[in-house]
Amino acid sequence: MTDQAPAAYSGPQRVLSGVQPSGALHLGNYLGALVKFARLQHEMDTFIFVADMHAITVWQDPKLLANQVREITAAYLASGLDPEKATIFPQSAVPAHAELAWIFNCVARLGWLDRMTQFKEKSGKHKERASVGLYTYPVLQAADILLYKATHVPVGDDQRQHLELTRDIAAKFNHDFEAPAFFPLPDALTQGPGSRIMSLRDGTAKMSKSDPSDNSRLNLLDEPDLVAQKIRKAKTDPEPLPETLDELKGRPEAENLIGIYAALDGRSSAEVLAEFAGQGFGAFKPKLAELAVEKLGPVGAEMRRLMADPAEIDRVLAKGAERAREAAAPTLAETRRLVGFWGA
Ligand code: TRP
Repeated sequence: MTDQAPAAYSGPQRVLSGVQPSGALHLGNYLGALVKFARLQHEMDTFIFVADMHAITVWQDPKLLANQVREITAAYLASGLDPEKATIFPQSAVPAHAELAWIFNCVARLGWLDRMTQFKEKSGKHKERASVGLYTYPVLQAADILLYKATHVPVGDDQRQHLELTRDIAAKFNHDFEAPAFFPLPDALTQGPGSRIMSLRDGTAKMSKSDPSDNSRLNLLDEPDLVAQKIRKAKTDPEPLPETLDELKGRPEAENLIGIYAALDGRSSAEVLAEFAGQGFGAFKPKLAELAVEKLGPVGAEMRRLMADPAEIDRVLAKGAERAREAAAPTLAETRRLVGFWGA
C-alpha cells in the first residue's frame, strides 16, 4: 500500500433536498428553496422529498400530516418541479431512510451531535423533554442525502452545520468500513437570489413560519389582497431609496424589500435600486406589491387547483416513492454488506 490520499467519490452528480410538512410555506421558502430546486432539475439528476419523518420529531396532528405532505408537494409542482424530471416523494414511503439512519446513529459520535445549534434552539430550556428523534434529526438528514449519494444539497444557511455533519459521517463510514470512495462528501448550495429573505416586520430576522406575526411573511397561499396589505404594512424607514447598495447598509428593512423585488423579478438589487433611486417607500411599495401579486398569485392559484385534486398529487407521490425506493436499494444493500449484516 502506498500512503496516497483515499480515492475520492467519482459517481454522478446528484441534487437532493427536502422541506418539512409543518406550517405554511412562505416567500423565503419559495425563493430560497423551491425555485432553486426547479432550476437545478435541468442541470442534474434531482431528488426532492417531503420530510415527514423529520416533522414528527416535534408533535404533528395525525389527522393533518398526510395533507400537509400533499400541500408541500403542491407547492413543489406549482413552483415548476416536473415529476417527469425530478423524483418527488414522501420520506416515510422509503423505509431505507430509517434503516440507513440507524447505521449512521452508530457511526456519528455523541460529541458531534452535542455541538448542533439547531437542537439547542429547538429543544429550548427543557432538553430532557425533547424527543430523542429531535436530537438525532441531523443523522436522519445525513441518511436522506447519502442514501442517494447526493453531491449537491440546496439548503438555507441554517442547515450548513447539518451538511458538515453529513460529510463527517460519510468520511467516518468510508474510513471505518474501508470503502474510501463509497459515500460522496456532499456540498451545501446556500447561495443565490432569495437566500436571505427577511421578515417584513424586522429586517434583521429571517422570514420564518414560526414567527408569531403573520404580517412578517408572505405565505404562498395568501390571497392577493392580503399580499398587498402585508407589503403596505411592512416596516420601513423614512428615507428615500439611495442609488447604491453601499448606502443601503444599516437599513435592513429597505435592503430586504429591495432584495425581495430583485429576487422576484430575476434582477440584481443594484439594478432595482438604479430604477427606484430617489423615490420613497410610498412609491416603491405599490410597485413591489404589484410584482409580488403577479409572481405569487399564479403559484397560490396552482397550489389550490392541485389541492382540490388530492388523487393527482397522490399519483405523483406514489410514482416518486417507487423511483426513490429503486434508487435507494443498491446503496442500502451495499451498506449492509459493508457493515457485515447477516444475509447481506
Ligand atoms: N432539515 C431541513 C430543513 O429543515 C429539511 C431536510 C431534511 C433536508 N432532510 C434533508 C434538507 C436533507 C436537505 C437534505 O430545512
